[in-house]
Amino acid sequence: RYLQEDNLSEECKKLLSILPKDKGWVGSYVYNYQGFWTPPRFLQGVIAFQQQFQAEDSDIILVTTPKSGTTWLKLLLFALVNRVKHSIFEPNHPLLVNNPHFIVPFLEITLYVDGRVPDFSTFTSPRLLATHVPFASLPKSVQDSKTKLVYLCRNPRDTFISMWHFTNNLILHHNDTNSIEEMFDLFCEGVSLYGPFWNHVLDYWKQSIENPTKILFLMYEEIKKNPKIQLKRLAEFLECPISIEEENCGVVDEILKMCSFENLSNLEVNTNEKFSTGEAYNLFFRRGEIGDWKNYFTIEMSDKLNHIIEEKFQGSGLKF
Ligand code: A3P
Repeated sequence: RYLQEDNLSEECKKLLSILPKDKGWVGSYVYNYQGFWTPPRFLQGVIAFQQQFQAEDSDIILVTTPKSGTTWLKLLLFALVNRVKHSIFEPNHPLLVNNPHFIVPFLEITLYVDGRVPDFSTFTSPRLLATHVPFASLPKSVQDSKTKLVYLCRNPRDTFISMWHFTNNLILHHNDTNSIEEMFDLFCEGVSLYGPFWNHVLDYWKQSIENPTKILFLMYEEIKKNPKIQLKRLAEFLECPISIEEENCGVVDEILKMCSFENLSNLEVNTNEKFSTGEAYNLFFRRGEIGDWKNYFTIEMSDKLNHIIEEKFQGSGLKF
């Protein structure tokens, strides 16, 4: 039901009839809208997000390509930004009892999906929101306001493996799985959720260089390797820097511990509960490691993606 197509508006159906389409990773097809690939249900949400969302200067929007570690960063952001309101040492901290995707909802996938009209009156300031939409397709008010964008990027090889597992888990109930070879070829052609992957990453990367006070570009691997440094970078960017007193009290360590893969993947809320559409929350916690792609890639796959990465990212300053 995650990507169900039976609730689409007439406007969306009309658009779908003229957009280029290709094999879907979960549903039947993905469609190319404004240069990126998206399933029909999300497309309707993207259009509503573009047409209706009014950004506020204090908004913080997390942007990722799917499977880059969005869930993790949602929680790091929430813990960091709300550390005065909710002490990280609180035994019933909201992070421990709520699903990450409820705490920081997706705009086009949750708030504006299926023709919903979001009720922003329940949000406190700053509003923490998330999206997978490429930079050029963000609503104008996001681009024109002082809204801060936090972009999280992950090595394309691990992102691909994570996406392949995730989408196969979503479609398991159809007694069907996508072969790694077939999905790999689609990924290389740019046909992945919100792909081409390289366009998504490069657009935000360039924007983050041009406008460093608006967009912070983070890497999954750097957070794994140097979590303290990256968390402090994030706090400074969001203009809520961590003081020496806080650091001495163990606030940074505690945030990282609370948001660790081990802790989150064992919380009851993430192990036993499901979205209203039926997917288990635990789908968002698989291994959480760097380099799992090495367990799956053949030499041919490795060579092919190396070549594409070299070609797409050359001269950008980004290395994978
Ligand atoms: P793997 O499939 O490689 O394990 P997203 O949240 O964007 O859907 O990304 C999901 C990926 O992030 C999964 O990667 C998941 O295991 C990993 N992940 C989830 N929580 C994490 C955490 N606390 N630390 C590191 N990785 C995490």
